Amino acid sequence: MPDAVTPAETSATAAARRHDPDVRGFASDNYAGVHPEVLAAIALANNGHQVSYGEDVYTEHLQEVFQAHFGPRAQAFPVFNGTGANVVALQAVTERWEAVICAETAHIHVDECGAPEKMGGLKLLTVPTEAGKLTPELIDRQAWGWGDQHRSQPRVVSIAESTELGTVYTADELAEICRHAHDHGMLVHLDGSRLANAAASLGVPMRALSTDVGVDIMSFGGTKNGLMFGEAVVVLNPDVVRGVEYVRKMSMQLGSKMRFMSVQFEALLAGDLWLRNASHANAMAARLSAAVADIPGVELTRPAQSNAVFAILPREATERLQKRFRFYTWNEGTGEVRWMTSFDTTEADIDTFAAAVREELA
Ligand SMILES: Cc1ncc(COP(=O)(O)O)c(C=O)c1O
Repeated sequence: MPDAVTPAETSATAAARRHDPDVRGFASDNYAGVHPEVLAAIALANNGHQVSYGEDVYTEHLQEVFQAHFGPRAQAFPVFNGTGANVVALQAVTERWEAVICAETAHIHVDECGAPEKMGGLKLLTVPTEAGKLTPELIDRQAWGWGDQHRSQPRVVSIAESTELGTVYTADELAEICRHAHDHGMLVHLDGSRLANAAASLGVPMRALSTDVGVDIMSFGGTKNGLMFGEAVVVLNPDVVRGVEYVRKMSMQLGSKMRFMSVQFEALLAGDLWLRNASHANAMAARLSAAVADIPGVELTRPAQSNAVFAILPREATERLQKRFRFYTWNEGTGEVRWMTSFDTTEADIDTFAAAVREELA
């Protein structure tokens, strides 16, 4: 059972509440609230004055916190959101004529409203994949044309761990991608919006899926794992990255009251909260997947390796279910839906939802 999201209620907070705190859906881990330990940390950093724009004691200490996870060369730059982290990180490792190879399903390609292209001036070279995962062979479909002045020069391979389809790369698969990219003079960016979920799923430390396999720069997720807001660009190989601080400001991602982002990351990463939250979300997805697997009419379409379950069911059943619970249709063409769990999803939430799926398909 996860910790309650609701801290001590006062009459003032009760009066101001505009929603039912017991209602949880399956649309996104972003629908969840803030973990109480994170909220407490924000309160702790409140009051008094601190230097703005990241020169505060919380952001200073945050470097040690990230280094404990990702090694002594790691440098963390808090930003407001995941799109911002991706756009800043990718700009910091590319020249204007260079390109980024990614999966066709990558968040940077399909869910960022063209921000990498429009705000970052980045050319994306996409590849279709089976389950959201690139391989050296798939990368090679776009890794060519160096020296040809007519082609955007492939410079970065961007992968997500876990992927947008809820799948997880093993450490060996990541190492192979990094080796391949580096052998071709390219760098590796990891969209680690859900890196904690992948590490929890594989039972390894987060550095085993990033620093240790040769990732150069990463977007590290916080919001989906219990923060109120905040992601971080984490430089893992400072030798190949330039000007993150300038690009962050230029990209409108420099927070003035940065202490409130940094202290949230400290709450998440200094102890084991990152792992508790991610393991719980993953366990709830596994529970859901098991609970619906044998329902006639439900076809599970991807292995539930992190905190997402993908399935195809008859459209009428989806429509009826969506009147009762929030979740997204992922692919309008095939009718595939995505059910996501988060740190505050309860076993009862899963059991109630699975029973509803069974009812609607009866
Ligand atoms: C793989 C991936 N990267 C990044 C993000 C973060 O995006 P943002 O915080 O800008 O909504 C998401 C959010 O859904 C995501 O799924």
